[in-house]
Amino acid sequence: MPIRIAFANQKGGVGKSTICTQVAFQLAIKEKKKVLVVDMDAQGNTTTVLLKGQELTGTRTVQLFDENLDKVEATETEYGIDLIGSPKNDREGYDAESLPISAALVPRSNLERIWDQYDYVLIDCPPSLGRKLLSALNATKYVLCPVKLSGFAVDGLEGLFMTIFDVKEQINHELEVLGILINEYDQSAAHNKALAGVKEAMDDMVFDNYLRHRPPLDSATMEGEPIWRVRNGKRAAEEMQAVVKEMIKRIKKIESGN
Ligand SMILES: Nc1ncnc2c1ncn2[C@@H]1O[C@H](COP(=O)(O)OP(=O)(O)OP(=O)(O)O)[C@@H](O)[C@H]1O
Ligand SMILES: [Mg+2]
Repeated sequence: MPIRIAFANQKGGVGKSTICTQVAFQLAIKEKKKVLVVDMDAQGNTTTVLLKGQELTGTRTVQLFDENLDKVEATETEYGIDLIGSPKNDREGYDAESLPISAALVPRSNLERIWDQYDYVLIDCPPSLGRKLLSALNATKYVLCPVKLSGFAVDGLEGLFMTIFDVKEQINHELEVLGILINEYDQSAAHNKALAGVKEAMDDMVFDNYLRHRPPLDSATMEGEPIWRVRNGKRAAEEMQAVVKEMIKRIKKIESGN
């Protein structure tokens, strides 16, 4: 079974898609792993980054909600990463939020039909606590929560964790929080205060490594490129690599039962 990780936070703009795509590049290109990315967000940002103008020929994310789907087929993208994606601002994808709760269980069974081909399945989640997040939490084993530090960071995490624990208790018992990844940390007094609050609430959940505000990450997103191939991307690439290393270490620790 592949290692499955969902990148989730109901708050918008915290770096879910950026981190999901850069982790995918790192695992696929540097670690030579077979990676499937599932873009659960109807905004389609991750899809746009990975496709780089190529057509989405395979299964679209919204089709994963179809119990009678004939065939599940990923679209192969430039760097060998396979994608089940959402066309930009997919109206049908947004409509999936109004499906009955039971429909949120269907994407997992469709993904199970192909996921044994992969080492990793990475799921980018939308900024809401709706059906698509539920379907991602049902399909994944691990959840990684990117967070931007603010006075409200802890409140947002509490809402997300309540959802995660409900899903774990009721529908997906294997679900595990891999950790909270601080994004755009600037070491200011305000950030340090917010970070102290997050650590007080959930200390060992917080990744030791963090990402700083690095404009090349924005360029990487716009160019659909791995961060280490973008101009001035060296520092961001080092930070991202450290994050991936810690992510793998955390997974190994959980899998070995320590
Ligand atoms: N560490 C960083 N340094 C600089 N820019 C960043 C960083 N992390 C994310 N960004 C930028 O911030 C913006 C929001 O990031 P991103 O789209 O990844 O967030 P998101 O959580 O996926 O948003 P949404 O909830 O809308 O899906 C993007 O323009 C991205 O390039
Ligand atoms: Mg996003």
